[in-house]
Amino acid sequence: MRNIAIFASGTGTNARKIIEFFRNDDTARVALVVSNKKDACVLDIAREHGIAALTVDRTTFFQSEALLERLRAQKIDFIVLAGFLWLIPPYLVNAFPRRMINIHPALLPAYGGKGMYGMHVHEAVKAAGDAETGITIHYVNEHYDEGDFVFQTRCPVHQDDTPADIARSVQRLEHLYFPQIIAKLVSELPTGPAI
Ligand code: GAR
Repeated sequence: MRNIAIFASGTGTNARKIIEFFRNDDTARVALVVSNKKDACVLDIAREHGIAALTVDRTTFFQSEALLERLRAQKIDFIVLAGFLWLIPPYLVNAFPRRMINIHPALLPAYGGKGMYGMHVHEAVKAAGDAETGITIHYVNEHYDEGDFVFQTRCPVHQDDTPADIARSVQRLEHLYFPQIIAKLVSELPTGPAI
């Protein structure tokens, strides 16, 4: 059984889909949820499913490697960023080479980088008048939204769509594809622990 950790800062709709997807899987499961926000809904979702949940503060995350101990203790094989808004520090990137992915709610390299998250992305797509948008799933490196792509898919943006409408179309794609892509990547992992 491979162990997945989800890092999330927000409402956790993707985290919920991923948790539910793997609940009936006998090869992988979500073993840990990590958030940088004490009151993040995603922590309640984890508790609801009996999954270990953890909050990290800025100092612990960026200036120590304490989180690695926890990931090692839980035998984490793969990390999924699902709306996690902090940059991943080098000690974590190096400990999980091609074992950590992020989802971005646009067609990278467009609309990526620091500050480009959630509704900011959809507002920028609307302001540019783009006819399509989509999702990008990519490996994580030390820069925001720059790792190698794993998967992209598109959806149309209609002329009268509001940023909220665009968000809904993109979220539909995320919920549909993210769990499947995670399952595929986890099934292809080399045997043996990450760290
Ligand atoms: C998702 O749309 C994800 O693509 C985005 O945050 C949302 C989290 O939603 N991530 C980024 O913008 C990263 N730059 P959720 O909490 O409902 O899963």
